[in-house]
Amino acid sequence: MKTIIINTSARKNWNTAMMLKGAKKGAEAAGAETEYIDLFDLDFSGCHSCMACKLKEAEKNRCYWNDDLSPLIDKILHADCVIIGTPIYFWDVSAAFRALLERLCFCTLSYDGNGHFLDRQVNVGLIYTMNTSEEGFETNVRPNVNNIEEMFAKFLKGKVMSCTAFRTLQVNDYSKYCMAKFNEEERREGREKRFPEDIRKAYEMARELSSKPSDN
Ligand SMILES: Cc1cc2nc3c(=O)[nH]c(=O)nc-3n(C[C@H](O)[C@H](O)[C@H](O)COP(=O)(O)O)c2cc1C
Repeated sequence: MKTIIINTSARKNWNTAMMLKGAKKGAEAAGAETEYIDLFDLDFSGCHSCMACKLKEAEKNRCYWNDDLSPLIDKILHADCVIIGTPIYFWDVSAAFRALLERLCFCTLSYDGNGHFLDRQVNVGLIYTMNTSEEGFETNVRPNVNNIEEMFAKFLKGKVMSCTAFRTLQVNDYSKYCMAKFNEEERREGREKRFPEDIRKAYEMARELSSKPSDN
């Protein structure tokens, strides 16, 4: 089993990354080989609609745009599992996540009317971290990420799971910033008490998605 773990937050050691590092340990506990990638280390963009992946003679399930994302897409489509983490930005996934989604899903989409090209399954684990509460997530974010989860199920054909961290600690010292609407004490307590449990859920999710079917 091979599991690719991708951080689509620019912050390499903050909330999303911490959840993803927990997920990496979970995948390794299941015996998977893992690779961890900070997307912001790569030169990438969204889909350019070059249509090279739809050319009749083109090998399918490949993105042909010449940047760092195409080899990563190739790795994902040959892996058994991908875990992608995103901070919630304006009630949706990050722009970096969206760029990856466009490129990854478009090159597996068939316009011949026969569905999708991929003939194997890649399990997908999604990690969302955000300022808002569970209630805010269900009302404002859930409809957006539901669409994304359905897309992954359709295009990558594997199992899709997700986990969340709410009311995250956004900065180390709130007193330095114009962020009066947040209660630093409550955030810090959440980091100490709730967040380890969130990381444990990310671990469990990745362990399940990275297990051989007979191990489940
Ligand atoms: C540009 C931007 C937009 C954001 N929009 C939202 C939002 O709509 N809802 C929310 O709950 N949190 C929002 N946040 C907060 C982040 O989702 C939250 O702090 C997240 O845990 C950050 O992840 P990171 O620490 O991995 O960067 C926003 C943060 C930024 C920088």
